[in-house]
Amino acid sequence: MTPPALTTRDIAVADLTEKQAKSELQSLAKVIAAHDVAYYTQDAPAVSDADYDALRQRNDAIEKRFPDLVRADSPSKRVGAAAGGGFKKVNHAVPMLSLGNAFADEDVTDFVERIRRFLDLGEDEKVEMLVEPKIDGLSFSARYEHGRLVTAATRGDGAVGEDITANIKTIKEIPDLIMGDVPKAIEIRGEVYMTKSDFQAMNERQAVAGGKIFANPRNAAAGSLRQLDSKITAQRPLKAFTYAWGAVEGALTWTTQWEFVQRLKAWGFPVNPRAVVRESVAGMLEEYQKLGSDRAGLAYDIDGIVYKVNRLDWQKRLGFVSRAPRWAIAHKFSAERAETRLETIEIQVGRTGALTPVAQLTPVNVGGVMVSRATLHNEDEIARKDIRVGDTVIIQRAGDVIPQVVEVKFDKRPKTSKAFAFPRKCPVCGSLAVREEDAAVTRCTGGLVCPAQAVERLRHFVSREAFDIEGLGEKSIEAFFADGIIKSPADLFKLTRDKIAGREGWGDKSIDNLLAAIERRRSVSLERFIFGLGIPQVGQATARLLAHHYGSLDAWEQAMTAAKDEDSDAFRELTGIEQVGPSVATDLIGFFAEKHNRDVLAALRKAGVTAEDFVRPDTSNSPIAGKTVVFTGTLEKMGRNEAKAGALALGAKVAGSVSKKTDYVVAGPGAGSKLKDAEALGVKVLTEDEYLALIG
Ligand code: IVH
Repeated sequence: MTPPALTTRDIAVADLTEKQAKSELQSLAKVIAAHDVAYYTQDAPAVSDADYDALRQRNDAIEKRFPDLVRADSPSKRVGAAAGGGFKKVNHAVPMLSLGNAFADEDVTDFVERIRRFLDLGEDEKVEMLVEPKIDGLSFSARYEHGRLVTAATRGDGAVGEDITANIKTIKEIPDLIMGDVPKAIEIRGEVYMTKSDFQAMNERQAVAGGKIFANPRNAAAGSLRQLDSKITAQRPLKAFTYAWGAVEGALTWTTQWEFVQRLKAWGFPVNPRAVVRESVAGMLEEYQKLGSDRAGLAYDIDGIVYKVNRLDWQKRLGFVSRAPRWAIAHKFSAERAETRLETIEIQVGRTGALTPVAQLTPVNVGGVMVSRATLHNEDEIARKDIRVGDTVIIQRAGDVIPQVVEVKFDKRPKTSKAFAFPRKCPVCGSLAVREEDAAVTRCTGGLVCPAQAVERLRHFVSREAFDIEGLGEKSIEAFFADGIIKSPADLFKLTRDKIAGREGWGDKSIDNLLAAIERRRSVSLERFIFGLGIPQVGQATARLLAHHYGSLDAWEQAMTAAKDEDSDAFRELTGIEQVGPSVATDLIGFFAEKHNRDVLAALRKAGVTAEDFVRPDTSNSPIAGKTVVFTGTLEKMGRNEAKAGALALGAKVAGSVSKKTDYVVAGPGAGSKLKDAEALGVKVLTEDEYLALIG
């Protein structure tokens, strides 16, 4: 559901008539509830936190002036949103509450004053406060019985949450078992979050795969934690901080908030290292300032700082007001959003040839940092948000990593603006850029000649699984490329002593070794040759299939060129190879359609580099021809790749997991689940020696 537009009126609360107040409270209840669903249940907030807070503040202010008008469904009586469908519900024995907000320094002074009055403290009595960052994540409550984690839940509406036990268990930082001075049962509460760098990396992966792109680390954490399939959660880089307790059976053995944090630490829970105790408003505000200026450098997002009365006996006396404790408050930071103009969209080409659109912005200050660029992720994201050059956009520093464009101000769009046409050519080398099937990523087909990709491709070319040239590390490749000594793979085979001598780190011996290593690889197997070209989606397995199918470099090259025509036999033959789908075929054809790539091949040939023809081994006497073999554990007499290659050469199929179709599982020391699977399915298990004896 899309939350309705904001309807907060411009009339000051003091000037509202009762009738106006009544109607506004009604609409605020509706609007805030809708935003709560968007934020808590759908992990897709529709307004900024600041706008949301403003709505809540307005609601509170009206209710304060007209206490008789407070509605049964008032937002002030509620936190979060009701738990969504799909998860089992969990009742929180002690409700999971929210926190009141402070925005200005005076709000903090008022907060402490209120506490002093409530407790009727003498003038010299100090109020110690535990001060810690407010983590911008998703709160959870984990119940431990006899030290063992039994259930975990989201906050939900504060009273009923969603059962996310299996998901919480995938988070390594949250212990399954706690020992020592542990109550019989205790609910440990905290926040699940994602670091800014993990969030960025995950979004990059999602952008390539065409998966969901998250607006910020909080949404990414929430979306990852609220997965019905915990296997997905397990793949997401989630972390946690703990800071509170809920229901406890047995005596509390701590008397202050600080002691509790130490207890958490001793039990093995992650606690925030920035927690400190302060005993004056000045000290609290100083922490707020400090944390505010360190905020951008923290590994995770925080949206404020929390002050909690340290003494538990005082906390108890202070108690709660509707949705929040009287003894704690959140001092919020200002929103990290700003409005600016999108001047151009630049296309960056990554090492694998992926084209990434980046917005160039009129520089603007966002939360103290000047921002002039924002990531646009991929073609689909631009289309989805309808982002155009010349637009006025709202940008957000999501975790201060790479700022993002949150939304377009359509009302400010110039009349002449046109939808952005994603390039079909690589801006770096001019080669065709092809969108991958079933993915959102567009890649440059320039491969080996695109400077943006060249170094990475050269590194791939010399790697162990490809041409296997020893003694040429990434640094050397970069240096050789920068100096123009090696621009394309063929240049490797034209290297001479003179070209390398005198360079830092290159003595006579290492030059000899390198030249010898290169010489040894003037001829490699066809599959290594094909793999070494670094064609997108052509990994070792596909290279092997192609080598086995076409047999020689000439035959393969001719076939790939002829397959350009989708009506050709060559095309039908290519797509007919088992496991070569249309998407792989497109990449292969795209590679050969580029003259640059054909030139690279021609240059390799000219430099005397050859691919050995694939000769189908005579497997008529092979004891494992047609059989499916799985290798697991440590092999002691042969390397894993050697074992696989040997089995393939003998006509066997090598699989990565055990099924009913598996004929043999070859298990070395340390074999785990695959061995268990084999035993469960009654598949024949061989030791390495037994296997070697079998194949002779
Ligand atoms: S204490 C009864 N401490 O912020 C008080 N909350 O806006 C329990 N939060 O519901 C909360 N960091 O989900 C506390 N260091 C921290 C926090 C924190 C983040 C979250 C929590 C809470 C919400 C209130």
